[in-house]
Order: sequence, then structure tokens, then C-alpha cells
Amino acid sequence: MITRRRFLANGAVVATGAGVKLPVWATGINVARSAAVEHGLLLGVDYYPDQTPESLWPEDARLIAEAGLTNVRVAEFAWSLMEPSEGKFDFAWLARSVEILHKHGIEVILGTPSAAPPPWLSEKYPEILLVNSQGMTVQPGGRRFTCPTNKVYRKLSLAIATEMAKTFADTPGVIGWQIDNEFTLQQWGRCYCKYCRAGFQDWTKRKYGALDAVNQKWGTAFWSQVYTEWKQIPVPLPSNGDPNPGLALDYDRYQSYANSSFAEEQLAMLRKICPRHFVTTNNVGAPLDTIDLRELFRNLDFVCHDNYPGFVQIFFEGGKMPPEQVATVVALGHDSMRSVKDGKPFLIMEEQSGKAGQSFFGPQPHPGQLRLWAFQAVAHGAMGVNYFRWDTAKFGAEEYWHGLLNHDRSKSPGFDEIVRTVKELKSLGKAGLESRYVAETAFSFDLDSDWALSIQPGNRKLSYAAQLMVWYGSVASANVGTDLIRLDGDLSKYKAVFAPVQYVVSAKQAENVRNYVRNGGVFVTNFRLGVKDESSQIVDMPLPGLLGDVMGVTVKDYVPIYNEKIGVQFGTELAGQDAECALWADLLTPQTATVLAKYTGAYEGAAAITVNAFGKGKAVYIGADLDAKSLARVLQALLAMSGSKSAFGAPTGVEVTRRQAGEKEWAFVLNHGAEAQKVMLPGKFKSALSGDAFDGSVTLRGFDAVILERQ
Ligand code: GAL
Ligand code: ZN
Repeated sequence: MITRRRFLANGAVVATGAGVKLPVWATGINVARSAAVEHGLLLGVDYYPDQTPESLWPEDARLIAEAGLTNVRVAEFAWSLMEPSEGKFDFAWLARSVEILHKHGIEVILGTPSAAPPPWLSEKYPEILLVNSQGMTVQPGGRRFTCPTNKVYRKLSLAIATEMAKTFADTPGVIGWQIDNEFTLQQWGRCYCKYCRAGFQDWTKRKYGALDAVNQKWGTAFWSQVYTEWKQIPVPLPSNGDPNPGLALDYDRYQSYANSSFAEEQLAMLRKICPRHFVTTNNVGAPLDTIDLRELFRNLDFVCHDNYPGFVQIFFEGGKMPPEQVATVVALGHDSMRSVKDGKPFLIMEEQSGKAGQSFFGPQPHPGQLRLWAFQAVAHGAMGVNYFRWDTAKFGAEEYWHGLLNHDRSKSPGFDEIVRTVKELKSLGKAGLESRYVAETAFSFDLDSDWALSIQPGNRKLSYAAQLMVWYGSVASANVGTDLIRLDGDLSKYKAVFAPVQYVVSAKQAENVRNYVRNGGVFVTNFRLGVKDESSQIVDMPLPGLLGDVMGVTVKDYVPIYNEKIGVQFGTELAGQDAECALWADLLTPQTATVLAKYTGAYEGAAAITVNAFGKGKAVYIGADLDAKSLARVLQALLAMSGSKSAFGAPTGVEVTRRQAGEKEWAFVLNHGAEAQKVMLPGKFKSALSGDAFDGSVTLRGFDAVILERQ
């Protein structure tokens, strides 16, 4: 038997006892028993025996198996049933459920239950409660109302997880673990309590070693904040005045560390007690951003993503965002999650299976959309899909969140569509598990810039997440594939790298970008570039700071835009209608760069967009916050300049992604709109699902998806 450790030690791909080759990220899966070996993609459902009468469990297991699903995730919110009072554990019910599921050929991922501690715990230990950024203690009654630093909460979370691990280490059918549930979510993403304050003081001590360094890096001479003892260091709670930006940025980093190290405690225990099981956690990707997911997932076996287009629909534009645009936000989430482990396939631990709703409903999924969304996840590199959830709760805060079964246990409107989807995805076989997403371009997803800009937006409306989304959406429609990277990582394989509001630039990042452009890369960035160093201090040089030579400009002045009407006029290279400048204008003076667009209005004549030939590559500075339409046009033109071009001719709203496994290459063609669309193909293709042949083009109905193989 190959254990996870041996896999990791052995390198990329190894032969298993079963004679099946698994990629390194699948190493934790107990391959002899895992459905992954048989079916390729992991296809399952999130199941709640804790919320279902036991008399229905056999029927559930039978129906789950009949639907073609081969695994479930269970128990991640069942703490109060598993430990009804402190130290009294009861896993008998869960063991019975696992046994029934296993008898039906269904494998089990167990969730450790720390995201929702039971009432006895918060009653007895109220110190575990999270204090929000306004200093209010969050009350029990929901979930994730806990402080990630608090030792009692950590001890009791580890205790229940340890008892679970001991109970299920050798239970047939159990294949892996999900630690906790969505560390990022709920409305208060960070805790500001006294335990976090002490934790932050320790973390700061470890990071800086000496108080002198802290005082210098944070610039505590300002407003009389020089710290003479570690215990004086505060957390950024309301204080009649904004917090020190360096302290506030470090605090965000500390909170990410606190959650990640919380997960690590359970991970270390699971590695010891359940060495054959994989261990992961589920989260959501960009544009959500309270935790550094590279830190959270560093030692976990693979990334899990929860995919809810319904949440995008509910929370953006009050449900009115068109489906094509929803799809780009969803794609951003997938790309960010795949990129957390540099392209290793990730698992969708929760995939929307019907109507989305908590206290109100999101828009109704159109027929075809559930299939389309699952295909989209796989198109972006998922190695499997677990639907959320099997039945629909008749009680609790998510009665409106629909599963595969309705409240009365009849089949949901999406049931048959899901069964079809599962069958189709299974037919991709093992290559579905192994294939890699192909990306020609990359986006910087920089949490330092994101967090520092949230602390000091500059213009009240300026948001890193919003800029990332609109930039990503502008480039995504070119269908050339996009990774979300850090600028200090390997950039060499990308034809173009986009870095919106790269407000913080480290010396390492600057040097890496410099080499990338020197060697032929195209680097496209915009206003507020390089304003700050990693301590959130303003750089001691003309802007754009460390990247001045690469960009070939200096920023003559920077202007937050409120009421002024500022326009942008393009030169011949980017010729097009004048643009509006919305939130920000960096007024550029070219040094070695060429001007591509100028401002009109109050800043008439100043350069707005420049390109600099640097080494073998080019660096483009977009100083103006362009209106969305102009931005899309400009970014597409720059992408073309980089030589990146899809071989497929797809109209807006149709996504094409590519996945490769050895000789095999698939093109996923996804029509996110309601109307039929024709897509031009570069040659002869065959549907991987139906075997239908296509020569030169394929036409898809609204909300349809096909997977094509080149002939
Ligand atoms: C996720 C969460 C699930 C469920 C789902 C639907 O964020 O992990 O437990 O709440 O959303 O609301
Ligand atoms: Zn706390």
C-alpha cells in the first residue's frame, strides 16, 4: 500500500498497488478502495445523516448510489450529536451511517465539526466567542462565531477531531477528512478579542524579534505610538482615528495565520492517527480574501472549493447580474483555487445542486445551468464535484437551500440533470482526474495589495476585489486560460501577466517582474502601482517605485476622482472611442515609455496609458480607471499584442477552456447565455461524451456545454 507520505516523498507520479497511476495530489487517497481509481473524477454529495431520521438512511444510501454518486461528505456540523456533553463522545450513530453508505459502495469524507461548537461549549466557555472589528462579541446561534486563537476552543476542537479520528481510522469506506468548514466565511472574517491580541503580540515578536524593528517598520513615531513593551501592542479596534496601516496589515496577516495554524493542529493529529486518509479543508476563492489560501492549504493534500453561482447571483447586483457575467466571477473563483497549489486539480466539496437560498432565494437556475456549472468547474481543473446537498433541510437556517431531494423527499427539478451530469463526467475516465488546465496568461492575486488597499482605499470606492473582477472579466472572454499567481512566483510560462492595483510591491516581486519582462514577457498593470512596501510604508522614491525602470514612467501626480469629468483619448495603437476615467487617475510622465493614451479635461495632455519596451518584453501602465467597456477593449488589444490568442472563435458569453493529460487534450465549450451560439473550431473535433463529430464549428443551445477532443 502506498501511503500519503511515500507518495509525497516519491515525487510526481507513482504506480499504486492497484497498478493505476495517480498524480501526486491524489496521494492521500486510499487507492485500493477508492472510487477515484475506478471512476476517475470524484463525484459525490454532501449528506446529513445528523439531520435525517435513521429509518431513511438505507433509502438515502440506495438512492445516492443509484444516482451514480460514489462518495459523501458528512458530519462537519454534527458536534453537538458527537459530543453531547464535554468529554462524552457518541460516534455510534455516525458509524452506523458510514456502514450503510459503505455497503452501497459509497465512500465517506468525514468533516471535523469545529465550525459550529455546541451550546454547552459556548455556555461554559464564553471566552471562545469572536469579537468583531467593531468590538462587539458575536453570539452563539449561528456558526463560525469562534475565535481562531482561543486555546480552549482549539483544545476542544482538537479533542473531538481526535476522538473522531481514532474511531474511524480503520473504518472501511472512510477515505479522507475535511478539517472544519470554510474558514473564510460568515460576515465577520476576523477576530479582535483579547486572545487574538495576545496571539498577535507573540506573532509580532516572532516576526520582528525586537520592538525597535516593530516601531521602525510600523512608523510608530506617528501619533505617539512607540511601543516599549510587547503587551502594549493593540489590535485595530475602533480608536477615534484610523489604525496604523502597518499594524493593520500585519493584523490581517496574523488572522490568516491564526486560522491556518488552527487547521494545522488538526492536520498534525490526522496525519498521525489516519496516515492513509487524505486531509483537506473546503474554502472559497477570489474575490473573497480574508485568508491566505496558500498558507491554509500548504500542508493539505489538495484544495477544496465550494462553488455557488447562486451566491454570486444573490450578493452581486441584487440578483440582476446577467448569467454570462456571473460565469466570469465563478471562473475567477475556480482559477484562484486551482492556482493555490500551482495547478494541481482541486475538488469541489460543495456544488450548487438547486435553488440557492438562506433567508431569501436567489434566481432560479435555468434548465441546463446546474450541468453547465459542474462542467465549468471541471473545465477549470476540478478533479471532482460533490453536490451540496443530498436532501433539503426542513429545519434550520438553510431551509431554502435546495438539495437533490425536495423537502418532501421527491426528486428536485435538477435531479435528473445532475444524474446525467454525473454519468457524463464519469465517462471521462481517469484522464479526467489527472488532466491539467492550460493557461497562457496570469493574474496577480496579491493579498498584501488587497488588504493594504482595504485599510486605506485612497478613493472611498476603490476596491482591489472589484478591480480584480473587472480586469479578470475583461481578459477571460479571450479564452486563453488564466492562472492566479503571485508576482514572486514563476512567470516565465505566461505570455502576459496582468496585475491590477499592485499597490504593494516587494523587492523580490519587482526583481521577478523585471526579469520576466526583460526575457520577453508582457506585463500590464495600472494606477497605484508600487506605492507601498510590505510594511505598508510609502516608498521613498518617485512612483511607481521599484518598478519605475520597467514601466519607463514616473507618476507626476495621482488624483482620486470624485465629481470631475475626466476623459481618456487613445492614440493610433489603441484607437477607439474616448473612455471615461472613473475613480482614479495617475498622471504619467514617460521616461523611456511611449504614450498610448492621454487625459482630456482638467489633466489635458498628461499621459494616461504608456507602453515601455524593456529588454525583450513590454510593460504597460494604465494610469486611468477606465470605464468597463473601454478597459475590456484595451486589455484585449494588449493581450493580442502579447501574442496570446485562442484557436477557438467563441462569442462573448461562451467560455472555452483546455485540459491536457499526456496526449489527450479536451476543450470544454460552455455557453453561459440563454441563446444558441456558434463557436468556430480550429479543425475536426469529436464530442468526448456523445462521439458526435464536428468540423470547423459547433453550435450549442443556451446553457449547454460540450467537451471536445481534437481528431
Ligand atoms: C457554504 C457552506 C455550507 C452551506 C452552503 C450553502 O458556504 O459551507 O455549509 O452553508 O454554503 O449556504
Ligand atoms: Zn480572537
